[in-house]
Amino acid sequence: AQHLLGIEHLSRDDIVSILDLAEQYVELNRQPHKHVDTLAGMTQINMFFENSTRTQSSFEIAGKRLGADVMNMAMGASSIKKGETLIDTALTLNAMNPDLLVVRHPHSGAVDLLSEKVNCAVLNAGDGRHEHPTQALLDALTIRRAKGRLHRLSVAICGDIAHSRVARSNIFMLNKMESRIRLIAPVTLLPSGIDQFGVEVFDDMAEGLEGVDVVMMLRLQRERMDGAFIPSPREYYHRWGLTAEKLSHAKDDAIVMHPGPMNRGVEIDGEIADDLNRSVIQEQVEMGVAVRMAAMELLVKARRDAKRDVGVMV
Ligand code: CP
Repeated sequence: AQHLLGIEHLSRDDIVSILDLAEQYVELNRQPHKHVDTLAGMTQINMFFENSTRTQSSFEIAGKRLGADVMNMAMGASSIKKGETLIDTALTLNAMNPDLLVVRHPHSGAVDLLSEKVNCAVLNAGDGRHEHPTQALLDALTIRRAKGRLHRLSVAICGDIAHSRVARSNIFMLNKMESRIRLIAPVTLLPSGIDQFGVEVFDDMAEGLEGVDVVMMLRLQRERMDGAFIPSPREYYHRWGLTAEKLSHAKDDAIVMHPGPMNRGVEIDGEIADDLNRSVIQEQVEMGVAVRMAAMELLVKARRDAKRDVGVMV
């Protein structure tokens, strides 16, 4: 592949290749010396048009550990503020010959559009409610390490499915890996047509969590709600917030995940989030660096091989 825009168009083998390489980087990242020169001499530009803590910092760390020169565009201080469009901004940066562009944007499809205009590899760091592919890959690596496999698991994805690119990317990923997906959400936070995605739908947490291996909680994404009806935070926590009582319906060894940022006491009880016997939330963050290193390395190699195939000097 030339870009990483979503999980939808990746094959099962593509996913496994990224996870296998990421495993090696997990080991490297735990060593005192964490640098390799895989991307030495290359330039990576991070363009985040939406706030981020985990994704932006881990893409920056991943690029630096691979030896790339990494530049974080401060989008709030850029000429976007003077009215320059997304595409003109991308063309301007493209003229500086970067090798990798990492882009987060509030509009679904914006990163795909941008990828058609530039000459380098583009990685989607989250576009609107469309996809967040590296999040699904880091979730996959976390699940595989905890459960030893990705197939034939029962995974509950709970909360604001309608506005969640994390849920969409994970649904594509888990379907490709032949796991069973249970969505648990208030009806107002389910996207229309969800039944075409090969999922079971519940609005009751106890029913939906019965016997699952993995409990994936989601944030209420108020920035994308456009006035959709949602219960008050108190009511939401009462019915859909993850508590010890609700978690008792899952398997005894079920793991608890959350992509972050989380609202403690709304989506999840803080004690469960911090319970290292159940919660793998910090491990998800750790896997994020390894998965992003693997994804960037494989993209750069694929582009180099493609150029070699058509006889361009590299
Ligand atoms: N999970 C995730 O994308 O977090 P950030 O918004 O902090 O990057």
